[in-house]
Order: sequence, then structure tokens, then C-alpha cells
Amino acid sequence: MVEQAQHDRAVEEPGTSSAAPVRLGAGGTARLVAGVLAPMLAQGIIVRRPAVVRLLDRWQGDDRAVRALQRARARYGRGPLVLRIPGRSVALLTGAQDAARVLAGSPEPFAPATTEKRAALQHFQPGGVLISDGAPRAARRRWNEDVLQLDVPLHEQAAAIGAVAAEELAPLRRAGSWDWPTFTEAWARITRRVTLGDGARDDVGLTDELARLRGRANWAYLRRTDHDGRRRLLAAVQDHLDRAEPGSLAATVTAAAGGEHGADLDLPSQVAHWLFAWDAAGIATHRAAALLAGHPEHAAAVRAEVAAAVPGRPDLPLLRATVLESVRLWPTTLAVLRETTRPTDWGGRTAPAGTTFVLVSSLLHRDDEQLPEADRFVPRMWLDETAPAGTSASLRSMVPFSAGPARCPGRDLVLHTSSVVLAALLGPDEPVQTAGRSAPDTGPLPRTLDHTALRFALRPPS
Ligand code: HEM
Repeated sequence: MVEQAQHDRAVEEPGTSSAAPVRLGAGGTARLVAGVLAPMLAQGIIVRRPAVVRLLDRWQGDDRAVRALQRARARYGRGPLVLRIPGRSVALLTGAQDAARVLAGSPEPFAPATTEKRAALQHFQPGGVLISDGAPRAARRRWNEDVLQLDVPLHEQAAAIGAVAAEELAPLRRAGSWDWPTFTEAWARITRRVTLGDGARDDVGLTDELARLRGRANWAYLRRTDHDGRRRLLAAVQDHLDRAEPGSLAATVTAAAGGEHGADLDLPSQVAHWLFAWDAAGIATHRAAALLAGHPEHAAAVRAEVAAAVPGRPDLPLLRATVLESVRLWPTTLAVLRETTRPTDWGGRTAPAGTTFVLVSSLLHRDDEQLPEADRFVPRMWLDETAPAGTSASLRSMVPFSAGPARCPGRDLVLHTSSVVLAALLGPDEPVQTAGRSAPDTGPLPRTLDHTALRFALRPPS
């Protein structure tokens, strides 16, 4: 697959960094904390705080973060920028080559399970693969890849997913318009059904309980673990899994548990991660509608693609590329973190074991000093390996689903689900954006896009 080849190319020659780390002073550290890390933490790493997202949209927070990192790179050079934080070794990466090296070297020596991620995610998924190490991590990773079917464009539940999407989105289509509250409710019903089966369709309590624990997870070690709440959540997930409803991921989960994967899977934790991660996919899908509304010619090509697709097994490369562009332009994983398990060499200097490397997604994806088309909608980037310089040549830094051995195992399932959701929503109609910051072709696209403000209507194609 072309897309897979591109992913592999991004990490096939990790090399080593040519530039040594630079230790920043108090001023340099303060500038990057204020301009990059604080806005990220304020909007919520695990669940977004809508009021802060609104503010950052007005302030174009990601634009300021990209500029702050570019200024730091110009001043200090391309090596890792080591922050002055007492008792911790934390380094921001500003080069695509370094990012590729770190992602290729996961889980050893660049472990996905960092101190901060553990502190946050244990609030609702204590055994999640992302915060696991060693043999349990290896088993949980293999299992996630198998069940979510990474690198398989059409998941074995693809037809069921399409049917669920069409059913749940019919009211929005009938209404001829949707906003974030109506979309996200329908999305939550779809993802509960897809993951846990029809019996979970109306289990809003499960989503609410997860949201509450995710709110605590935003505070990581600053909030104590709500052990009772966590037990309730994981027991509710297990109850749904026990039904193993045909057509849902729960059926696949049950079939794949045990056997070659071993016993130490902690299934409810894995599935709690999925339920959490579907939220990001909903945000990406809603924003993808803004891209379609802002690019009518592309939307017309998408309509033709949908009209020609095989029902039940639709191949929708243009829609997948639209969703990929949504997460490239407005990454839902704000930063990818890795923590070293041993000393690593950077341009002849050593970074100690336990160093946390921070890959800031908005810089990697929107670095207009390196990527001529960084701020444009470029779906062909994901479709055409021979695209001009500045697109495919730059894919090394395009990592919305991460890259390398710890990349998102849900990527293909997400791209399929988001694509069929958009196809079901739009049908033969044209989307028009009626509220929120728009994403037209007329200038650089905004670097922060408040998804909660976006509203759309349908009209017959002109
Ligand atoms: C727009 C939607 C999504 C995006 C952009 C996304 C992106 C990512 C990224 C960047 C990572 C790596 C995180 C890190 O290393 O810190 C990741 C990990 C992961 N994702 Fe996703 N994800 C999405 C949705 C999903 C969904 C819906 C599922 C499951 C149904 C899923 C399952 C996972 C799992 C299990 C991991 C951990 C992998 C590991 O540690 O080996 N993701 N995802």
C-alpha cells in the first residue's frame, strides 16, 4: 500500500542526530514552557477543555507554538532543546530526522510509557498498552494490532460499521445540518456500537464515567486515583465485552483473547483506551467536514468516489486522505512523548537514561520553514508517492498516527470509520459551513481550529 510505504520510509533510515543537545537557560526554558507546553497542558492532553480550546482558537495558539519553536531552532541550532527543569531531563525536538529516529527506536531505547503518560492514563486504563513495558507490552501490542487490524484498509467489521454509521446519522441528514453537540452524540453512539455492540448504544453513563476519569487524568499525578470509579468503568466495559456481540469489535476481542496472546492482556484497559481514542477520531472527522466545505472541488471528487464505491466494502482513498489531512493540519495527539531506557548519543554527547523527548505535532506537521505546503490542504500527499518536493519528500515528519513500532494500531480502523461516517453524512449533497473558523483555499489554513464551534448544513450540489 502506498500509504504504508510512506510510513515505512519515514522511519527506515533513523540514523543518529548530527546536532548535539543544547541546554537552555531559565529564559529559553520559560519561553518554550509558556509558548508551547503550557497551552498544551491547559487545553487538556487527555480530554479537551472547551473554554481553553475556544481561547486558543482566538489566540491561534498552535501558530504561536510553531513560531516559538522555530525561533528557538534558529537561535540554538537543530539539536534537542533540553529544558531547565529541576530533577528531570526533558528535551524538545525540532527536526524531522530526530523525530524519525526516536519513533523508529520505540520501545527500546525510546519507551512510549513515559512518567507523565503513566501518571495520566492509569486513571482509567492501568494496563493500557501505551503505558506498559517489557513482555506485557509486547503481548498487548500484538493483540491490539491483531484485533484492530493495523494495515488492513477494510476491517473485518467494515460492513457492520458502515451500516451503524448510516443508521445513526440518518437523523442528522434528515435535519440537513449538524453542529458539534449533535455530531458528537451520534459519534459516541456509533463508536459504542462499533466497539461494544448494540447493547452499548445507549450506555451514555459509560461515556460520562470515562469522561469524568479523563478529566482527572488531565491532572496526571496532581489528582489522586479514583480507584472506585476506575473499577466501575472497567467492570462496565467487561460486561459489554462478555456479550461478544457479532458485528462489533467485542466479538473480535473475545475471539482473539488468550491463545497465542497469553493471559496478561487486561482487556478492559485496552478497550478503555479505544473508547477514549475514538473521541479524537470524532474531532478529526468533524474538522474534515470543514475541509470538504472549504474545498468544493475536492468535495465533488469525494461525492463521485462515494457514488462509485462498493456498498459494504467501500474503497474511499480520497476520504481517507481528507481525514489524514485533518489530523495533519490539526493533530489530535498534541505531542508524542518517549522516555529513554538507557543513555543515548546525540551528536557525540550523551543524554541520560530517563530523558523525556517531546515531539510537538504542530511543528512536525506545520513547519513552514521546511515544508512549502505545510499550511495548505494537500490530500495528494497521502495518495501520490511521486508528488512534488515538499509533499511526499517531507513525509518523514507527517506522523498524525505516530510512526514506527509503536504507531497507532487503530489507524486503519479510524480512517475507515471516519470515511464511512462522512460518506453517510454527506450523501449526494454538498456541505456548507455555517459557523466556526473556516478552512478555505484562499490563504494559509488556520493552525488552531476550535472543533466545538463548527456547524454545517447540506445543500444539493450546485
Ligand atoms: C484520530 C484518531 C486517532 C489518532 C490521531 C491516533 C493517534 C495515535 C498516536 C499518535 C499514538 C501514539 C501515541 C504515543 O506514542 O504517545 C496512538 C497510540 C495508540 N492508539 Fe491511536 N489514534 C487515534 C484513534 C485511535 C483509536 C480509535 C484506537 C482504537 C480503537 C486507537 C488505538 C491506539 C492504541 C492501542 C495506541 C497505543 C499503541 C502502543 O502503545 O503501542 N487509536 N494513537
